[in-house]
Amino acid sequence: MLFRFLKSSDVKSSEITPENIYHNRREFIQASALLGIGAVALGLNIPQARADVLANITRSGTYDTDEKQTPYRAVTGYNNFYEFGTGKDDPARNAHTLRPRPWTVKVDGHVENPGDYDIDDLIRPHTLQERIYRMRCVEAWSMVIPWVGIPLADIINRLGPTSKAKYILFETLVDRKQMPGQSRRVIKWPYAEGLRMDEAMNPLTLMAVGLYGETLPNQNGAPLRLVVPWKYGFKGIKSIVRISFVKNRPRNSWKRLAPKEYGFFANVNPDVDHPRWTQANERRIGEFRRRDTLMFNGYGEEVAHMYSGMNLKKYF
Ligand code: MTE
Repeated sequence: MLFRFLKSSDVKSSEITPENIYHNRREFIQASALLGIGAVALGLNIPQARADVLANITRSGTYDTDEKQTPYRAVTGYNNFYEFGTGKDDPARNAHTLRPRPWTVKVDGHVENPGDYDIDDLIRPHTLQERIYRMRCVEAWSMVIPWVGIPLADIINRLGPTSKAKYILFETLVDRKQMPGQSRRVIKWPYAEGLRMDEAMNPLTLMAVGLYGETLPNQNGAPLRLVVPWKYGFKGIKSIVRISFVKNRPRNSWKRLAPKEYGFFANVNPDVDHPRWTQANERRIGEFRRRDTLMFNGYGEEVAHMYSGMNLKKYF
């Protein structure tokens, strides 16, 4: 089948990145409606009856932030997942068509144990951990989310990359029936993301299967998504069906679409502005005042060493 892939100039900038919600009245109103003053005052607002609670989650607390967690309804009701539409409330409305089981992940490239893995073999339930991370979206809003998952390094060690593997490429499912937003070519499907091998092996990097102690809702990337808390949110690729160990730096979806605006590394950096807005501060969902953005989203102690000597203005 022939696809005409859109050039970045074909896409309205409002489709690529809806403006920073602080300045966007429509989205600001949507967010406020989702949260409600009451919900903010009362705290987390997790639904009483959670369908699918994950058992045996361990908590080390090593990397957890103790900042106030973002209300569940905002985490699951206000997000980006273009496979279900480009509006922030589209994923919650439309993602019911995704079937997260059975789910197979293809592993290929420079690796000793390639193959098609059932998700339940890849993620062994007794190894699940909770990690409470600050998350910073490139659009200058942020959240605090208790994820459930396992360190990506655990999976990589079992798969056994060879010395030729310098990067990992991840891809999302392509299936227009399950993901109706894919009938619009707003980006080149599959959504793709990558990490350098040391970033992938960093203990902070998580393969998440849940949040708030329950299985990932479809709109948050069920059944398997990446969580990289020192990078902008678009690195957190959802509904992963392929993991490839590759030699060269892979092309990630947003860089491919708008290379002047989005880079491969996408490290949270208050000193490198987006061409259309500042990255020096952010709005935590549920708060009204803006707060200063922290270098590497506050995870410098764990990750800064990986970038020493690198010009982060060039490699943004
Ligand atoms: N993954 C896929 N497959 N498709 C997407 O559109 N959006 C990214 C990222 N992963 C996206 C994706 C962006 S822009 C953000 S900010 C985060 O998912 C949002 O994740 P959240 O639902 O945890 O807030």
